[in-house]
Amino acid sequence: MKTTRGIFVTGTDTEVGKTFVSIALLDMLRRQGVRTAAMKPVASGAKKVNDKYLNDDALQLQQAAGIDAPYAQVNPFVFPEAIAPHIAAARAGVEIDFETIEQSFQSLSEQSDFILVEGVGGWLAPLNRQQTVADLAIEMALPVLLVVGMRLGCINHALLSARAIEQSGAKLLGWIANKAQGNYPCVNENIEAIAQWLDAPLLATLAYLDDAATAGLDIRLEL
Ligand SMILES: Nc1ncnc2c1ncn2[C@@H]1O[C@H](COP(=O)(O)OP(=O)(O)OP(=O)(O)O)[C@@H](O)[C@H]1O
Ligand SMILES: [Mg+2]
Repeated sequence: MKTTRGIFVTGTDTEVGKTFVSIALLDMLRRQGVRTAAMKPVASGAKKVNDKYLNDDALQLQQAAGIDAPYAQVNPFVFPEAIAPHIAAARAGVEIDFETIEQSFQSLSEQSDFILVEGVGGWLAPLNRQQTVADLAIEMALPVLLVVGMRLGCINHALLSARAIEQSGAKLLGWIANKAQGNYPCVNENIEAIAQWLDAPLLATLAYLDDAATAGLDIRLEL
């Protein structure tokens, strides 16, 4: 079996730009000539199309990836309500099990040279009664990219997340400052403060943009 190369994208919270940054990264990797797969293993909040639930993040990732993959592989667990995933799963009478996710992960990894996995919520969002997003990232053995949604309070969230990632035993590859709220007061000073407090490198700063695919990121990820 070939070694899995990829990245696990987590964030300081929900709605901080994990998908936005992931699309920018997939575009960057395409420009670098890398054949990418992308996955959103667990998603809550979906619309019903032809009797199947589809989540918007998963659809975006499926489209931005460099390989054609069936929706069910990109997003094995999808729930209609936009609520905490372990609660959504319980309400749907489903247990989120890692074996199902691992099967999709292996298959996508084999078809590609690099796999990007977007987490759900933040680092310690529960997925079932015993396991969190952290356990899933560890199971996949991928290095972690932390997306920091730049807004008031994000310094604390960034430092807490980075510490939790390191305590989980995962490798924190670096972080991206995502100006999802544009230039709020002292945003650059906030970025400087996080950079000063974290050992992990600031890989990029993303401005407020109309379209993630125009970000033009240029990061050398370990390939
Ligand atoms: N740099 C940016 N410029 C403009 N809009 C942004 C930027 N980053 C994020 N957004 C917008 O902010 C919203 C939240 O971003 P996104 O959906 O990527 O967050 P997320 O962390 O993936 O959320 P979720 O937890 O639901 O997966 C989206 O509407 C997205 O288009
Ligand atoms: Mg998302």
